[in-house]
Amino acid sequence: MKILLTGGAGYIASHTCVELAQAGHEPVIVDNYVNSCPEAIRRVEQIIGRPVPHYEADVSDRAAMDRIFEENAFDCVIHFAGLKAVGESVAQPLRYYRNNLDTTLTLCETMQAHGVKRLVFSSSATVYGNLPTVPYREDMTSAGCTNPYGWTKFMIEKILEGQSTADHEWSVVLLRYFNPIGAHESGLIGEDPAGIPNNLMPYVAKVAVGELEKLSIFGNDYPTPDGTGVRDYIHVVDLARGHVLACDYAASHEGCEIINLGTGHGYSVLDLVQTFIRVNHVDVPYVIAPRRPGDIAENWADPTKARALLGWQAEKTLEDMCRDTFRFQQKNPKGYRG
Ligand code: NAD
Ligand code: UD1
Repeated sequence: MKILLTGGAGYIASHTCVELAQAGHEPVIVDNYVNSCPEAIRRVEQIIGRPVPHYEADVSDRAAMDRIFEENAFDCVIHFAGLKAVGESVAQPLRYYRNNLDTTLTLCETMQAHGVKRLVFSSSATVYGNLPTVPYREDMTSAGCTNPYGWTKFMIEKILEGQSTADHEWSVVLLRYFNPIGAHESGLIGEDPAGIPNNLMPYVAKVAVGELEKLSIFGNDYPTPDGTGVRDYIHVVDLARGHVLACDYAASHEGCEIINLGTGHGYSVLDLVQTFIRVNHVDVPYVIAPRRPGDIAENWADPTKARALLGWQAEKTLEDMCRDTFRFQQKNPKGYRG
């Protein structure tokens, strides 16, 4: 299939591009590089050994999107493009609502105009909010999002559900990712956050190479086995494989399905840090700090539906995630811009 990846130069999309190409599909990228750079695409091309067509454009630019759809007969679209930093979304809510909603609306209008009706969307476990019971299942009602970023995902899910109800030819898969970490085993592509990372794994990686002094563990008094927060960390290559299967699913079904992509296992902050230290033979100095406002004690996915509908399950371990992250960090100390 010829598949458009919006936000295709980003962290998750670049890994998905590799898996799609290796599964025999033809990925095409559109990105405005607001949080990425063309070097990521060059690295993908290096891994797969062939060029990937790519366009520099804002997905909310209708004229640009029309040109891309005129030049390509897409079978399916994966919509990764969006702003994703939770704290930034609290400080700049209008920018987040504008970018994330506008890109989605313009994309869907362009798809409708060109008769392309298969869409896979990057949603997030953040739409569940803080539910009282784990694991999180797709039919659980959201407890409400805790930040504008989360609400954009919630709203986009509703927009896409509405469209697939209105036009039965649409096939939409809403993928709710848990905590993607790790990197391609080549060490060529990985997560390259700008500035000081907010998320745990990129922060640990920068402490491990001495770029940051020490990790602050946000709270050790949660009601979890060791008191630190528990999350469902999923290797980005497993996640990418889930997208390949979601495209196949969208091609053979109509309607709208919500599907969790997680491993079904929760690991604590200390589990992750200690595994990182053990498998990479490095030190990661840390201190216990106060809880981070807005954090929840624990969440992990019920991945039963992904297995039933997509035939997908995570295969890589926490050890793989830690090893692959460190390899990318060591090979690319200044990220893609180095
Ligand atoms: P990323 O920032 O690396 O990738 C997003 C890409 O979208 C970037 O390349 C960025 O330049 C591009 N983009 C943003 N706005 C655009 C616009 N208007 N036009 C064109 N391109 C635009 O982030 P990621 O971690 O790869 O996440 C991909 C998607 O998955 C996002 O929608 C994110 O919200 C979602 N998601 C990510 C996580 C995570 O932990 N990384 C978890 C759940 C959901
Ligand atoms: C956050 C976002 C979520 C987003 C996800 C992307 C919130 C409330 N949620 O999830 O919407 O999809 O990132 O991966 O922000 N931790 C530390 N020290 C650090 C950083 C994190 O102890 O320096 C802890 C956190 O308290 C948490 C765990 O590590 O227990 C994971 O944090 P993080 O990687 O930021 O992800 P989430 O908060 O789960």
